[in-house]
Amino acid sequence: MEGLPQPHRCPMIVQYFLISPLRRLLEPPKKLVGPYVKPGMTVLDVGCGFGYVSLPLARMVGDQGRVLSVDVEPRAVTRLKRRARKAGLSARIRATACQPRDLGLAKFAGQVDLITLIHTMHEFEDLPGFCTQAAALLKPAGRLLVIEPKGHVNPDQFAAELECCRQAGFAELDPPVKGRKHLAALLGKPFAA
Ligand SMILES: C[S@@+](CC[C@H](N)C(=O)[O-])C[C@H]1O[C@@H](n2cnc3c(N)ncnc32)[C@H](O)[C@@H]1O
Repeated sequence: MEGLPQPHRCPMIVQYFLISPLRRLLEPPKKLVGPYVKPGMTVLDVGCGFGYVSLPLARMVGDQGRVLSVDVEPRAVTRLKRRARKAGLSARIRATACQPRDLGLAKFAGQVDLITLIHTMHEFEDLPGFCTQAAALLKPAGRLLVIEPKGHVNPDQFAAELECCRQAGFAELDPPVKGRKHLAALLGKPFAA
């Protein structure tokens, strides 16, 4: 599809900056995802990296909930697992490495309440393929939360990403947010999926 950002992979060195205390001040996870998460939910964090969002998500869903964390970078998954263990959150987080075009989560079809894509969608090499998998994984009232950094994704590229999601049947539930640093959208699952 035209207008999408050029896919690329976040270098490992950048992952260290993504868990820095400074980021917690500039981009508190509670503000990023908190409004969409309730205790007991199953949340899928795609492109979890070192777990900047997965770990707070695991606290938010509580001991009745779970977080499925996936990343194409196995070293990021290993690191997240270690951080989850240290934080005492391993029981709530299932972290796995995936393939660029396959999340490897087919067995969770219809079980996910919320999918979070934090600074990740612009790295996808197959966004339509991701949308098909996401639709299958979500419960009927499931949501897809996309947050992109303005430094990497311009508003036209974000519009192209959302158009791709729309073509897969996702519907925007609120008007997209164009913040100072972020572009964000909350999408509902396609009816037919
Ligand atoms: C910029 S990092 C963001 C990490 C994390 N969400 C955060 O906010 O700290 C993007 C992540 O997406 C992962 N990624 C890229 N393509 C992916 C794909 N097709 N499936 C799953 N993860 C992917 C990268 O390995 C990287 O960890």
